[in-house]
Parts: sequence; C-alpha cells; structure tokens
Amino acid sequence: MAMKLKEALKWILDENDLNKLIKSYDIIGDIIVIKSHPELESKMDIIAEALHEIHPRVRTIATVALYARTHELYRTRELHIIWGDDNLETTHRESGCIFKVDLRQVFFSPRLSYERMRIARKVSPAETIINTFSGAGCFSIIIAKFQPQTKIYSIDVNPHAYEYMKENVALNNVDGRVIPILGDASEELKRLEGVADRVIMPLPEHACSFLPLAVRALKIDAGGVIHYYDVSFGRKGDDLFRAPLERVRDIISSTFGDSLSIELEDARILRSVAPRKYHVVLDLHVKWKIHNP
Ligand SMILES: C[S@@+](CC[C@H](N)C(=O)[O-])C[C@H]1O[C@@H](n2cnc3c(N)ncnc32)[C@H](O)[C@@H]1O
Repeated sequence: MAMKLKEALKWILDENDLNKLIKSYDIIGDIIVIKSHPELESKMDIIAEALHEIHPRVRTIATVALYARTHELYRTRELHIIWGDDNLETTHRESGCIFKVDLRQVFFSPRLSYERMRIARKVSPAETIINTFSGAGCFSIIIAKFQPQTKIYSIDVNPHAYEYMKENVALNNVDGRVIPILGDASEELKRLEGVADRVIMPLPEHACSFLPLAVRALKIDAGGVIHYYDVSFGRKGDDLFRAPLERVRDIISSTFGDSLSIELEDARILRSVAPRKYHVVLDLHVKWKIHNP
C-alpha cells in the first residue's frame, strides 16, 4: 500500500516532499487515517486524491499530525478531514468480528490486530479475564468469539468507549460473556479481587501503576497471567524487555515483598512509537508463594 502511494505521487511531488511523506496509513472501516508531516500540510489534498484513487471505496480521509498530542486519559488524537464527509464513525472488521467506533471519541488501532489474536490464542476454555483498558472492547470480543466459555470483565473510563463497547458486544453476539464496565480501572479492579485467571493491561504509558491491583485480581490459589504493556527506550537489537521487567519486579517486590513468583512466559515488541521508543508486552505468570491477605 505504502509503495503504491509513493508511486502514485512520484510525478506530482518533488523528491524533498516525497521524503517527508509518511507512506504507511491505516484503513479503519471505510476511513483512511494518514499521518501528516508539518511541512506537507499544503499538499495534503493532493495526497488525499492519490489515496482515493488507490482506495475508491473509502468514504473519508483524515490526517493526524505527525507530532499530535494524545488525549492523556482516552488516548485519542485530533483528526482533520482532508477528503470526504465529516463523519468519523465507522465499522471495522477484524478476525471475524465487527467493531463500531467513532475515531474522534474512542481509541482504535488496526495495528493491534495481531496482538489481539495472539492473546486470544493463549486463552483456555472457561477462563475469567479482566481487560482493564478495553476501549471499544476489541480484545475482549475477539477472545469471547474464539473461546466461547470465557467471561471477560471489560473496563474503560471513557463513556464513549463504553457505549461503543456495549454496541459491539451486541453486534458480535457475545452478550453475557463480555461484561462492559464504565469506570476507572483502579476502582473496578478492587471490586474484582481474586476472580481472574488472566488480566490484560493494554495501556503502555500507565499500566505499571495498576500492577499491584491487577495482581490482587488474580485467583489466590492458582495465580494467573498478566499481559503487561509498557514503554521501552533503546535501539533495535538492545534488550528492550529488561527495563520493563525490572520495573515489574521492583513494583511487585515493593508491594508484596517476596511472596510472589513471577515468570516471564513471553515478550514481544508491538511497535516503534517514536525514534528509540517502543511499546512492548510482557506475558507474566504470577503466583503467590505464600498468600498475602
Ligand atoms: C490504548 S487504549 C486500549 C485499546 C484497546 N485495548 C483496543 O484494543 O482497542 C487505552 C484505553 O484505556 C482507557 N483508560 C485510560 N485510563 C484508564 C483508567 N484509569 N481506567 C480505565 N480505562 C482507562 C482509555 O479510555 C482507552 O480507551
């Protein structure tokens, strides 16, 4: 896709502009979202025309500034329409599921599709799961579709995300198995103490501060798995998991002393989010050595 865009523009933009063009973009339902370089603002309508020729079925093309600020709590970014209508609500298909979202109001990234399936494949039948930062419910719904006997408490603090999550639960026929909860993860995790086989924490910037509560939400006797997302700094080839794992061990030992065992089951780099800055995930198996009431 990226090559097609560059190809389409190579006789229209000069070399300098082509080098600034952010060639990869997301197609979410019938909307394209492309990052815009500050020095290419005046060329965005030309870029939109080229994108529309490549993807004639797309209804709307929107840009997000290369250095756009992300809403601190809801993780959304400001979008500007450069082609098509102003409506940023769309329906996206992924892994046999349907997700309805308004991109202005709710975080959604199709780039997490592999990660969502990766987690779904790890889930065993009849697990109880807590998704602490659910957005429109994507991780939870995909898990419920692939493992029908699971029960997934799905928390989000953004009322728009909660409304879309409820709609998506109905659209995907997973009512009663995905349980949408509007609230702050720290408050809701306290209510869910000792219930979970698995906790998913897809909020790389802040998941660490919820870690002690996530541990307490796991079943006391059996322990469980925490999918812990974090930010890591370094170069390609560095051990990008070392600092997040140390952070986990520090938080756990300062909260629970030596009463827990933590095993790293798996780890992966999700994506580079800025030069030398990565989102990573650690799959942690956590178990009480001695129960800490
Ligand atoms: C990166 S998005 C999650 C994406 C989602 N898992 C998906 O697959 O689309 C993070 C979400 O966490 C929510 N959030 C942020 N802080 C929160 C908190 N303290 N409690 C509950 N939800 C929170 C945001 O509203 C946002 O929807």
